[in-house]
Amino acid sequence: MSDTAWKPKRVTDGPSDSTGKIFKVELSIQCAETKKTLEGIISEKTDFQIKDSKDATPSSLLILELAETPEETFAVIRDLAKVAKGTEIFLTSSKLDSGILLEAMRAGAKEFLAQPIQPQEVEGAFSRFQERAASSTDKRGEASIVAGKVLAFFGGKGGVGTTSITVNVAAALLNLPSKPRVVIVDVNQHGGDLPLYLDLQPMHSFRDIAADPSRLDQAFLIRLLTKCESGLQVLPSGYDDLSTGRLSPDCVEATLKLLQASFDYVVVDCGHVLDLTTKKALELASWINVTSTLMVPVVHRTKRILELLRGSGFPQSKLRLIMNRYLSGEKDVLVETEEILKQKAHWLFPNDYPSASHSVNSGKPLIETAPKTAVGKSYMEYAASFDDTPGQSQGKSSVLGWLSPFKSGKAQAAT
Ligand SMILES: Nc1ncnc2c1ncn2[C@@H]1O[C@H](COP(=O)(O)OP(=O)(O)OP(=O)(O)O)[C@@H](O)[C@H]1O
Ligand SMILES: [Mg+2]
Repeated sequence: MSDTAWKPKRVTDGPSDSTGKIFKVELSIQCAETKKTLEGIISEKTDFQIKDSKDATPSSLLILELAETPEETFAVIRDLAKVAKGTEIFLTSSKLDSGILLEAMRAGAKEFLAQPIQPQEVEGAFSRFQERAASSTDKRGEASIVAGKVLAFFGGKGGVGTTSITVNVAAALLNLPSKPRVVIVDVNQHGGDLPLYLDLQPMHSFRDIAADPSRLDQAFLIRLLTKCESGLQVLPSGYDDLSTGRLSPDCVEATLKLLQASFDYVVVDCGHVLDLTTKKALELASWINVTSTLMVPVVHRTKRILELLRGSGFPQSKLRLIMNRYLSGEKDVLVETEEILKQKAHWLFPNDYPSASHSVNSGKPLIETAPKTAVGKSYMEYAASFDDTPGQSQGKSSVLGWLSPFKSGKAQAAT
């Protein structure tokens, strides 16, 4: 089949880099010769460049190779077309089957590059890509070229509710009016049990990446995500406290940066062990939510954690103290605890054991099983506080009237 079948159709949701900037290209290609040829062609061009693996902003163009099982590639293209809206996808393959080409085009691929690669075909495809970029107005506007926010949740101690908060804030973000793309990631390699909170039995996890980090690219990563019915996507750690394998900081860094390129929010359960891997996730975070309760042993360890983080150079502006299981009569204890921790609580999640345990046992976020409870509303308000979409109020006032010292449910940042 000739490439005439691949004449560009007018697109309304095209590449986002239409501002005269350099287009970043990502190659997800196993065939060494094809990859080398494309790298050579792109290196000669002034307005295209290969995307650096440490770059967390989305690529404008992804050139994807057809896998052994074409259906797998079509599924990846469909998923990418949904999450990576500012990225155009080209397909490359040595198979020139018209059925495959048609299906790929239906899935969302914009051009086909036959192997062996012909430079003039690449030139043609690239210039059509540029035409589309120039004529299209990306519906998501500038937002789509901004790297997603990483929200890290770290437990001052085990069992304080870190996973419950991570899951619920992620689920609540998904329900924001701006309909952000949200992925939830578990980097806890000392008991990563996040899938249980969503009743998932994932086929893939960080283990797949750790097994062969060289395979990591946007298309590979999309294949590893488990999709919940709600639209939430999940990358579990795959490590429990009996596992011997270890997740490297580099692996976490590369993965989170790739996810930042496709999702508006990357919500990370960091567990409660501060090792080099979790530190890497915290380094990439826009905010580090350190979760505590008012229990003495928890406060004791949270104090150590906060000191360690401050001592390691994490900026105070990124550190948030989140108090979980707060009871309305505990104001005095809270004030005393804030003095001990040298930090004001940024948010208070009310205590509601029956609703919390029912939600965990039913494998659904509490914001679904008990949305009208104070804790359910508090999760939703906390999620809304991250939304800086124009027109959305940030850190809106809380309905938790009983949290009278924190009229907005949002305490003042630490001084
Ligand atoms: N706001 C809350 N009120 C009452 N109970 C809660 C609340 N949030 C969480 N819990 C309960 O606390 C327990 C521990 O929660 P969770 O597993 O989320 O903690 P964790 O910090 O992730 O634990 P781990 O260290 O084992 O990973 C669960 O039984 C959960 O239902
Ligand atoms: Mg947990």
